[in-house]
Amino acid sequence: MTSTEKFAMGKSMKRREDPRFIQGKGHYLDDINLPGQLYMALVHSPYPHANILGIDSSEAMKVPGVVAVVTAKELNAHGVGRLPTFHGFDQQMVLADGKVLYQHQEVAAVYAETREAAYDAAELVEVDYEPLQAVVTPQQAKTDETIIRADREQQTNHIFNWSVGQQDATEQALAGSDHVVRQHIKYQRVHAAPLEPCGCVAEFDVMGRLKFYVTSQAPHVYRTALFLVTGIPEDKIQVIAPDLGGGFGNKVPVYPGYICAIAGALVIGRPVKWIETRTENLTSSFARDYHMDIELGATKDGKLTALKVLTDADHGAFDAAADPSKYPAGMFGIITGSYDIPTAYASLDAYFTNKMPGGVAYRCSFRVTEAAYCIERAMDILADDLNIDPVELRRRNFIQPEQFPYQSPLSFTYDSGDYEKTMDVALERIGYADLLKEQAEKRARGELMGIGISTFTEVTGAGPSKHFDILGIKMFDGAEIRIHPSGAGIIRTGTKSQGQGHETTWAQIVAEELGLDPQNFQVEEGDTDTAPYGLGTYASRSTPVAGGALALAARKIRDKGRKIAAHLLEVDEMDLEWKDYRFQVMGAPSRSVTMKEVAFAAYTNPGENEPGLEATLYYDPPNMVFPHGTYIAVVDVDRETGETKVRRFMAIDDCGTIINPMIVEGQVHGGLTEGYAIAFMQEIPYDEDGNNLATNFTEYLVPTSLETPSWETGHTVTPSPHHPIGAKSVGESPNVGSPAAFVNAVIDALSPLGVRHIDMPLTREKVWSAIREAEAAQ
Ligand code: CDP
Repeated sequence: MTSTEKFAMGKSMKRREDPRFIQGKGHYLDDINLPGQLYMALVHSPYPHANILGIDSSEAMKVPGVVAVVTAKELNAHGVGRLPTFHGFDQQMVLADGKVLYQHQEVAAVYAETREAAYDAAELVEVDYEPLQAVVTPQQAKTDETIIRADREQQTNHIFNWSVGQQDATEQALAGSDHVVRQHIKYQRVHAAPLEPCGCVAEFDVMGRLKFYVTSQAPHVYRTALFLVTGIPEDKIQVIAPDLGGGFGNKVPVYPGYICAIAGALVIGRPVKWIETRTENLTSSFARDYHMDIELGATKDGKLTALKVLTDADHGAFDAAADPSKYPAGMFGIITGSYDIPTAYASLDAYFTNKMPGGVAYRCSFRVTEAAYCIERAMDILADDLNIDPVELRRRNFIQPEQFPYQSPLSFTYDSGDYEKTMDVALERIGYADLLKEQAEKRARGELMGIGISTFTEVTGAGPSKHFDILGIKMFDGAEIRIHPSGAGIIRTGTKSQGQGHETTWAQIVAEELGLDPQNFQVEEGDTDTAPYGLGTYASRSTPVAGGALALAARKIRDKGRKIAAHLLEVDEMDLEWKDYRFQVMGAPSRSVTMKEVAFAAYTNPGENEPGLEATLYYDPPNMVFPHGTYIAVVDVDRETGETKVRRFMAIDDCGTIINPMIVEGQVHGGLTEGYAIAFMQEIPYDEDGNNLATNFTEYLVPTSLETPSWETGHTVTPSPHHPIGAKSVGESPNVGSPAAFVNAVIDALSPLGVRHIDMPLTREKVWSAIREAEAAQ
């Protein structure tokens, strides 16, 4: 067996990056220290909404080692006081300019010889605030007279409305339905909370060229954004993203600290390092915060008739939501899920509030998570109302395999799927029939046991240029492959792994296409001087877009290899076929050459062909991909204490062709743990004055191995018909699909008491209160 057969597509090859990670030899942002570097600390507002009457930095400047204090005034003087958000039209203040709009907003930057001096001095910057009334919820934003963004032409807290689907037809279908579920469902404000917070080191060389080390999931987008903010030509900007300790969407935005570090490095003439504290990380961005009103209509025997959902979105003080511009509410249109719903309508209004900006795509394709949660919760409520088993209700409404490509009523064309097959595997593996029996026995004894199912569909792989762009840049991805004379090579892409294992899976894709050894490929990402342009890694787009680019770039190499092989075998290239990882003469398979032999010839004996063996390719995918899965949670609830215990969790994913099953399983484990945390523990709550009540890990909880359930995983394979290797994505699926399974299980446990819905997180207190209220009402 050759190493290619052993290690290429579909094999659980060990992660090639792990030797450096598990030995503590990863090279992260905080490992970068440049000679003569200064440290930067930021001053943050204690008020959610206030006028700034004055800033006095004289005491701060007296701290030994402090070099400078910068405010909006200095930034404005250099023309870098505003930062375009990735949403396109809004201009975020780099440092608060005359007014603070949310608690912890950046007000001043302090530069000093040591980190300690910078932080000490930041505490001594005197800011004279005049507190103002804060607008804390979208509901308040609608009615309150306070205009949060007086700096904008439009004097309203309303940012935009986005609607999609058939409003009149949907209203009519709902009116004619035997039954309509109406439910308000909130997806709470949460945070991606990567292990490593954000940071940067900015340095200008003697020729005025900026070298910018930064925790970025999208280095090329940063380079272009930095050009737009600072006016530094793109050839004078090198963005380098080193190893990242997680990202999950938190490392996509360009944060004010980055601009302050660059401005400091330019003006002071020394490198500047800035790295967030945990509190700074937790208080500078958020995810979700969608307030949804869903109406789901059905016939009395459970056939879906129509879906309508109206949403208020809390975008915070600047419109920085990660929504590619042609989808102002991201890919929320996937809310019809896995179901063949004849007509649907979704309308969303986004509002400014005095809260931190963000709306980052936390392990999610721009609002797919909110959509999947909403429809999967509504399906369970409908099942309960109609007294139909939730599994049976789903079975009656699944889009059937022969309906693909499936045109959804909310504009997407689903590529492929086999929902029933995946659900049946999950039901079989978890022993659904036995669980139902056990539940019936327990219910008879008054015990609370719940089974929750989620049969979600996602839309990932942003995306086709006809639909997507960020700051006008189309969302393609680039791949470059260079094969050396020995058959080893370098692979470069515009994506950036944050722990997903690209150094392994990218090598597997190319090895499979070329019949070369994946262990002999160096995989490079994250340096804009060397990597081809690409839009980065978030929203599970790497495999659908960069993975496609890699396969097609490898095929370009194969095309050239064929010409060299024809020269070596002295036949016409039309007489060659690529079979069993080698070029064979058709009808005479013993006459063949491998790609390794071709690679050597490319540099030693190319014949009439141009020497060398390399290719660059930019891939603009024709469509998105639509991964799906069935997740089933089994939960026991303690009636006295409200404590929930996830006893079992079965996750069957379908991400099309699998490149590396072990990596896929790891992705699923991580995402399920995050989904569990969101369902049961996590929220960024605010008090009525706009104070953020989750600013550290004692308030914003992260699950440890003690709380985390044991995951059972598996898969079905329904390839994407348009992706070059049939692969879909998997990174975000477990985060997207699992919250509904957990919540459905808890509500199922409580349903004998008449509990219909509880908003996440399902903390012990909330569950306990729901039980007590339900008991009191009985
Ligand atoms: O964009 P991101 O890398 O976060 O997400 P992804 O494209 O879903 O990929 C996550 C990891 O799983 C990568 O290493 C992929 O190559 C791998 N994967 C796989 O092995 N097979 C698939 N069908 C999908 C992803």
